[in-house]
Amino acid sequence: MRLFTPEAMREADRKAVERGYPSLLLMEWAGMKAARVYLELFGKAPALVLAGKGNNGGDGLVLARHLLLEGVGVRVYAAGGQTGDALLALQALLAHGVEVRPLEEASFREGEVVVDALFGTGLKGPLTDFYAELVERVNRAGLPVLALDLPSGLPFSPHVRATATVAFAALKTPHLFQREACGKLYLAEIGLPKPLLEREDLPEVASPEALRPLLPRRPLTAHKGSVGRVGVLGGYQGEDLRYAGAPLLAALGAYRMGAGLVHLVAPEGTPLEPLEAVFHPVPSPALPPLKAEALAVGMGGGPWGRAWALKALEARLPTVLDADALHPEVAEAYRKAGVPAVLTPHAGEAGRLLGISPEEVAKDPLGAARALAERTGLAVVLKGNPTVVAEGERLSVNPTGNPALATGGTGDVLSGAIAALLAAGLRPFDAARLGVFLHGLAGDLLAEEKGVGLLAREVAEALPRARRLLQE
Ligand code: APR
Repeated sequence: MRLFTPEAMREADRKAVERGYPSLLLMEWAGMKAARVYLELFGKAPALVLAGKGNNGGDGLVLARHLLLEGVGVRVYAAGGQTGDALLALQALLAHGVEVRPLEEASFREGEVVVDALFGTGLKGPLTDFYAELVERVNRAGLPVLALDLPSGLPFSPHVRATATVAFAALKTPHLFQREACGKLYLAEIGLPKPLLEREDLPEVASPEALRPLLPRRPLTAHKGSVGRVGVLGGYQGEDLRYAGAPLLAALGAYRMGAGLVHLVAPEGTPLEPLEAVFHPVPSPALPPLKAEALAVGMGGGPWGRAWALKALEARLPTVLDADALHPEVAEAYRKAGVPAVLTPHAGEAGRLLGISPEEVAKDPLGAARALAERTGLAVVLKGNPTVVAEGERLSVNPTGNPALATGGTGDVLSGAIAALLAAGLRPFDAARLGVFLHGLAGDLLAEEKGVGLLAREVAEALPRARRLLQE
């Protein structure tokens, strides 16, 4: 599944029409599918449909007709000036005897559900004047809102804050990057010929179907030396061992993702946890001889971070570079040495690597991840909501995860988990997107059970369940 820009979606629509596909069918399916979602979510609650003059409004007029046929009360307010398919949708609705009033007269009533069909992918810039006010009124009304295709106003502000959104044909960038405004997300197939949706040049939305085949198989004859061994190098010895927990959590993440054995290389005095790890206490950053197929480096490394990463490079193993190992000089050394690596920065660390502010990274995470992958020649996991994985020309946007994961140590667990997948033989891009997906899914399973207040080690512990769920 690909993540479309509004322009790419318009292009797909246009190509369908060029192939002779009647565009009115797309509108009919969109409105009908959205009406189904409406009935599923709101039953027979009366609808207040707000329709713009474009095709998004047309979808809303079709929905109104289908709701009417299902016995749902509808009040329809529409902008004037419909042409083409939207005009046909209006005529069809009028033929059913529905009164369609001017949008300027729209009023809100208790107990109604607002259907936002004002603007979709055709919006050219931020809403102003009448429409900006109308959108604010929708938000203030406090009624449930079902948005068609996109909450009106997105990707700009002001925009509608929807209870649920039905995306037509494909997810578009704002569905994942402005998820808060979309509420519960539905994807409706509307009959577009499939090849038009297969756009390898667009970012992928990581999906169970695409990731399932990547899950490492464990043969009956497996032993701990054959399924992937991970070396974790992290922590530092300063005045104290303040961040000693970070490498321990990475070790836990690696084991829970299926590593056969984890070597923990950490400063002397680091607590012996988890007991299943093989310990290598060191007085300063070092790479003791160890048998491993991949490394995770830098968690809790503080001032040792860079030295850990440069020592680790001597092993020439696929490596996850995290936290304090994330330095431009380190990335350059790995690139030059041709050692495969996955960088796992958050916006602040990505900014440091790119020489821009965290705000600039947050404004365009897809662009930042791509730029970092290009500059370093390495795989990049740009952590955020959503997390973006990049390598070369490829981009993958992760749909799992939730704000309950915003807690200390979850990033360390992720690094260990990705390292376990590298050790199992996955290529950096695949280890990264699968690791990120399962880590987010583990967080989703826990948030469903417990809400906010998760511990990073619980996320590690939920990884096997997430993995099994994906396997099924
Ligand atoms: N302010 C006011 N009007 C605007 C603005 C703006 N900033 N930008 C664009 N418009 C107007 C355009 O002039 C046009 O009349 O909005 C209308 C287009 O809105 P859409 O309905 O979003 O665009 P359109 O291309 O007609 O339809 C796309 O149709 O395929 C369905 O729902 C699907 O989102 C998709 C939509």
